[in-house]
Amino acid sequence: MWIVQEAIRSQIPRELDPETIYARLMTMNFAGIHTSTFTTVNMLLDSLSRPDVFNTMKEEISTIYQQSKCKWTKAAVNNLKFTDNVLRESMRLSGPIVRLIRDIKAENGIQLNGVPLPKGTKIATDMHNMHRDEEIYKDANSFNPFRLNPSTGQPMPPAVETSENFLPFGHGRV
Ligand code: HEM
Repeated sequence: MWIVQEAIRSQIPRELDPETIYARLMTMNFAGIHTSTFTTVNMLLDSLSRPDVFNTMKEEISTIYQQSKCKWTKAAVNNLKFTDNVLRESMRLSGPIVRLIRDIKAENGIQLNGVPLPKGTKIATDMHNMHRDEEIYKDANSFNPFRLNPSTGQPMPPAVETSENFLPFGHGRV
């Protein structure tokens, strides 16, 4: 609805063209709804495959809900640390996007690990296999939301914190 409201507000005829509105809706559907739905379903299936994980998560959700007087607030959701680690671990193994494609834009191309890549080259980041690399994640193929960050010994960072080793949302562009 806000896409239509914004199109009316803009007073630009092309913005009100049904084809433009349709293209915007399809893009947002694909980018936002499919990704979130796959992620949620996979997280539920992954956690149900491990009763210890599911029960710990259920306990945490119930405790935080009671503590926040049976009201979900942003602060209360932020306290769901273990649940967030379940989401993160599920996204590592079952994230909805497994490759990111980039075009080389630099006029003179770039060198990547000594390989010259001219302008216009397309390269892909293999997120699927990076997320299963034993050198980065011990026992990489197992779903283990209890895993600790090897460099700090603390629980893993939040699911929204991307890094070179955790790419379900990508990791920005240069
Ligand atoms: C769990 C949920 C989601 C996942 C895993 C996800 C993942 C991604 C990934 C991997 C990219 C590509 C980033 C890149 O090229 O570096 C992307 C781009 C994008 N996402 Fe999401 N996304 C999610 C939810 C959403 C939602 C809810 C929205 C909108 C409401 C959204 C809108 C977009 C848009 C517009 C882009 C393109 C950005 C650009 O090219 O500049 N995403 N997303």
